[in-house]
Amino acid sequence: MRAIEFAEYGGSDVLRGRDVDLPEPGPGQVRVAVRVAGVNPFDWKLRSGAMAGVVRLSLPHRPGLELAGVVDAAGAGAPAAVGDEVFGWAETGSYAEYALASVIAAKPRALTWRDVAALPTAGEAALRGLRLLDVGEGDVLLVHGAAGAVGGFATQLAVARGATVIGTGGDRSADTIRSSGATPVRYGDGLVERVRAVSPRVDAVLDAAGRGALPDSVELRGGTDRVLTLADTAAFDLGIPFSSGEPGGQSADVLTELADLAATGRLVVRHARSYPLAEAARAQDDSATGHSGGKITLDVRG
Ligand SMILES: NC(=O)c1ccc[n+]([C@@H]2O[C@H](COP(=O)([O-])OP(=O)(O)OC[C@H]3O[C@@H](n4cnc5c(N)ncnc54)[C@H](OP(=O)(O)O)[C@@H]3O)[C@@H](O)[C@H]2O)c1
Repeated sequence: MRAIEFAEYGGSDVLRGRDVDLPEPGPGQVRVAVRVAGVNPFDWKLRSGAMAGVVRLSLPHRPGLELAGVVDAAGAGAPAAVGDEVFGWAETGSYAEYALASVIAAKPRALTWRDVAALPTAGEAALRGLRLLDVGEGDVLLVHGAAGAVGGFATQLAVARGATVIGTGGDRSADTIRSSGATPVRYGDGLVERVRAVSPRVDAVLDAAGRGALPDSVELRGGTDRVLTLADTAAFDLGIPFSSGEPGGQSADVLTELADLAATGRLVVRHARSYPLAEAARAQDDSATGHSGGKITLDVRG
């Protein structure tokens, strides 16, 4: 089968298409004929070597956290049968024609392959962020990166819970942020004043951008309580929690919850661009701009 791998850290040119052996599912695993793979900032951060001190890889490494496709082989006790349409987290990288998975859920008919491939990583992070911040009715929540994959989901989910959301973004993201039910505010110098002009009170801050807004966030919040980042390592010096995941957090229940929200229109997936598998390097470069305007995916099978 074809797969994309890198054998050394570096720019997107280290990504190479290779012919590799089909992975064989073990107990509890399925092999998925991948239709669409999700592209995440994690993929290019890992490839660049910037995370080499934190995440140990054996090279060559096959990227790709998320997949959507059809089960084509199932190990003993697997959560789905051959022919089932599923999505979930890949245990062998999803930048490939086939990948193994054990945490999966059924793809709702109402959703496209791209829709479901976009849900797991950003959706779980958004749900986790709102839960850790205990966001609910009446809260004023500031979301950094509100037009991004994670921030966009978090904004929609927080609005649905009755929160008032102020979302940061670039000028071109204002309409997207507004359509999620939030008030858009441009990021960058003067952020504190612009947010205060919208609301003198900020009850919680979710940083889903990781672009240096934590000091302003502490000022707006009046302290570090209920300030959380998913992406900014400056958090460690500022005494702010950085959430990168929780044991058992990537569960089939979370996938089912996200699929149900999306299939019933309560969570809208915003797609940016999709690339063929062979153009994974372009897809990662697009994601690495930090301004993709929605979810980037790989169409693995046409
Ligand atoms: N900890 C976790 O569990 C976890 C899980 C998933 C992702 N993440 C991390 O969360 C971050 C976002 O992921 P994603 O998939 O949502 O990425 P994404 O879709 O590429 O979104 C990035 C967002 O960052 C915003 N942004 C760019 N420059 C900015 C700046 N200078 N100030 C404020 N915002 C800025 C963009 O806004 P504009 O487009 O409006 O410029 C965009 O909304 C990444 O760092 C990713 O690695 C963490």
